[in-house]
Amino acid sequence: MHDEEARGGLAQWKRYDAAAEGFREYWYPVMVARELRGKPVARRIAGDDLVLVREHGRAFALADRCPHRGIPLSIGKRDAPGHLTCRYHGWMFDVSTGRLVAALTDGPSSPIVGKVCVRTYPVEERCGMLWVWMGRRPPVPVEQDIPEELLAPDAQIAKRFVLAAGNWRYATENGFDEAHGKYLHRDSLWMAFKRIPAWNQTRIVESEDGLWITRRQEASYAQDEYPVVNRWPRFHVWQRPQGNIVQTANNRLSLRLPGILRVLQPGSAGWTHYEWYVPVDRTHYLYLQLAVAWTRGLGALKWWLRYWSYIRWLHHGEFNNQDLRIVRLMPETHPERLFRPDVSITAWRRLAETRARDYAEDSAPAVPELVRG
Ligand code: FES
Ligand SMILES: [Fe+2]
Repeated sequence: MHDEEARGGLAQWKRYDAAAEGFREYWYPVMVARELRGKPVARRIAGDDLVLVREHGRAFALADRCPHRGIPLSIGKRDAPGHLTCRYHGWMFDVSTGRLVAALTDGPSSPIVGKVCVRTYPVEERCGMLWVWMGRRPPVPVEQDIPEELLAPDAQIAKRFVLAAGNWRYATENGFDEAHGKYLHRDSLWMAFKRIPAWNQTRIVESEDGLWITRRQEASYAQDEYPVVNRWPRFHVWQRPQGNIVQTANNRLSLRLPGILRVLQPGSAGWTHYEWYVPVDRTHYLYLQLAVAWTRGLGALKWWLRYWSYIRWLHHGEFNNQDLRIVRLMPETHPERLFRPDVSITAWRRLAETRARDYAEDSAPAVPELVRG
């Protein structure tokens, strides 16, 4: 790591620094698909307020703001199939095109009809979730933004969405952060029977397809001698040596754009943990955790029992809530003085800076948010 990087903060990463509300040219998971039924659902993603509705089994997303007086369409009514009516004065919109088809309180021949529409957003349903394209450009196939193993037909995907305080970039950096697991998480119940090493020498490597960066441990020190505390850490008797957490081929932690973490679980655990840090606005993100096993039949039944009996509470809850509490405390801009393990953070920033799809250099958005008559 260059010393200059160690001092710099986000400002030296121009595109990353500008992406406080997220990189727009991506598909983002926004909710569990089956939770969208008759009632419209509101979500803020990358600074945009959206309303999601389901119509004849298909999901649609529109800007959650009536062009008339700005009332959220998410409190609207469903007067006719395929349409959403604003609760205030009864402007009625086609959910697939966003066009105003009637202004009920101005008679059937209202001259405003045909002159107004709300922005629509492409929506796809995969892995039991709804994905929304936030880009200004035409969408890429949604499969490009989903790790391909999640699309396998035998993938059993447990999900937890949490609206969390903090900026999505700090949540992403925390996910890939090398050092905190060895201090912050040391007292978590999830880690109670494992030996977390004192420190590692870490190298960041890139996957062959250029999508992922991975933390690779060159050396791991279970305990070491320090001033004042002497030997650290001290292990409890119930933390067996075979519970040593050393990153190996089946215990890898990787990160890719636009902020997707993948953690292969150690040993014979047989499942993989994923996280998305979906930008909501500058100060909030949607934290999505997935626990995934690839199995069917009885194996699938066993997996779901396992998930709901302890993984949900200990890993998704108690363990990852430690991360949520820390990210919430991280100010968005602050002087930072990085240290050696933060090679993980700078590698991610470099990836985001150089590879993120965005259209920062472009001029006007291709799709105006509101077309007024
Ligand atoms: S604000 Fe929506 S119809 Fe008036
Ligand atoms: Fe963590």
